[in-house]
Amino acid sequence: MLGSFNNHLFFLLCFIKLTRCFLTTPMAGETSWISHYDDRQRENGVFDSFLEVGEEGEKDASAVSLDVILPDDLLERILAYLPVASIFRAGCVSKRWYEIVNSERFLWNLSHVLPQKPWYFMFTSSDEPIGYAFDPVFRKWYNIELPCIGTSNWFIASSIGMVCFMDNDSRSELCICNPITKTYKKLEEPPGLKFSDYSALAISVNRESHIYSVAIVKSKQVPENFFQWDISIHVYNSVNRTWVTTLTEVLMGWRGGDESVICNGMLYFLVYSTGGGQPENRHALIAYNMSNRSSQGSLTRSFIPVPCSLTCGRLMNLKEKLVMVGGIGKPDRPDIIKGIGIWLLNDKTWEEIARMPHKFFQGFGEFDDVFASSGADDLIYIQSYGAPALLIFDTNHKQWKWSQKCPVTKRFPLQLFTGFCFEPRLEIAP
Ligand SMILES: *[C@@H]1O[C@H](CO)[C@@H](O)[C@H](O)[C@H]1NC(C)=O
Ligand SMILES: *[C@@H]1O[C@H](CO)[C@@H](O)[C@H](O)[C@H]1NC(C)=O
Ligand SMILES: *[C@@H]1O[C@H](CO)[C@@H](O)[C@H](O)[C@H]1NC(C)=O
Ligand SMILES: *[C@@H]1O[C@H](CO)[C@@H](O)[C@H](O)[C@H]1NC(C)=O
Ligand SMILES: *[C@@H]1O[C@H](CO)[C@@H](O)[C@H](O)[C@H]1NC(C)=O
Repeated sequence: MLGSFNNHLFFLLCFIKLTRCFLTTPMAGETSWISHYDDRQRENGVFDSFLEVGEEGEKDASAVSLDVILPDDLLERILAYLPVASIFRAGCVSKRWYEIVNSERFLWNLSHVLPQKPWYFMFTSSDEPIGYAFDPVFRKWYNIELPCIGTSNWFIASSIGMVCFMDNDSRSELCICNPITKTYKKLEEPPGLKFSDYSALAISVNRESHIYSVAIVKSKQVPENFFQWDISIHVYNSVNRTWVTTLTEVLMGWRGGDESVICNGMLYFLVYSTGGGQPENRHALIAYNMSNRSSQGSLTRSFIPVPCSLTCGRLMNLKEKLVMVGGIGKPDRPDIIKGIGIWLLNDKTWEEIARMPHKFFQGFGEFDDVFASSGADDLIYIQSYGAPALLIFDTNHKQWKWSQKCPVTKRFPLQLFTGFCFEPRLEIAP
């Protein structure tokens, strides 16, 4: 432990030095450390010493001598306090630093010492899976490349540093990746109907063991019958590496959609009424216990009504609690939203935890009823499809805040923006 005052001071000085060294960015606003890291890794397998530092003109005498003075364990501690982006770049300084930041001990400690805030990846093109990732701690956008994914309209689900993609045509290409380290794994094709009308994808990663489950809810209209829908649930488990179909059932008057999430072993998904009905009854939530499959009886018994007339319900897992973000429809015109609400599910009842203040709602400019929203830990991101503006709600401090401006501009009127949230983590690999 760093007992004495002198040691504390020394630690602080090193920290300041290091953060100055590694937080400087090549261009204001936009940083491309990951692309650098990537290219070099692909070319050489290992990093050349001092490349990154030299490039930036930051290689001064004190940075070098620091490296010589510090014993491994102290260096480890200091590096552990840097943000993920800087740790990545620190790995390029020298072989020694590279070995430290890639050691199992360091990565394990990192995940326990300093929880990182979830980032938001914003797609800036609908044909190519390109975009920028926002780090809310340093309020910076990074240029990162996503592995595996084909276009921004693929299905995306994320949990604790892992992101799952599924293609939107055949719905048979599935891939799990860590978007920071770019490690990935393809999953075998899920069972069940190959062409379902609707599919919902969810993933859940265990924070300690890193074991993960992927769930897909498929829903298809029974031929020539508008009221009956075949619903099936398929679950993949990283221990057994196989898919199991855990439920097939016919729902009357309801169909599945593309919203689902796993919280605390429960799979939640939104269902949509196929009949007319009152606007407040057009959506419902189904709660399905993934560990207790067979004896749950009919899905209709696990229906939870939604709190109001919703237009664009989005489900997310915030610290293993289910949170829903939704557009609140006007009473006379439920397809036009008058605001956006955030609800937390307690047992079977909804508690409204926030409503977007009018000035932010207006701030989206061309807000329509379709928006992307995604969250993790204690942050919720909300983004209109029509503009690259990104709003962040901190559920701990009940604070709304715009992100820094994304380094992209809208190029044509119908350009759409969307995105997803993920935790930046170095120690997780599928
Ligand atoms: C990492 O954990 C080990 C064992 O738990 C501990 O001895 C070491 O000081 C930790 N290192 C850092 C950088 O926190
Ligand atoms: C999949 O494609 C359909 C048709 O283009 C689109 O309506 C739907 O939103 C897409 N799904 C996702 C998750 O983007
Ligand atoms: C893995 O398969 C075994 C044998 O079929 C089963 O008993 C076990 O419950 C499965 N584990 C998970 C996590 O599904
Ligand atoms: C399964 O879950 C339901 C409700 O969550 C419960 O009533 C039932 O007893 C459970 N069955 C088993 C076998 O644990
Ligand atoms: C899910 O089912 C398991 C096994 O029956 C039970 O232990 C657990 O409490 C259930 N979870 C919830 C949230 O009801």
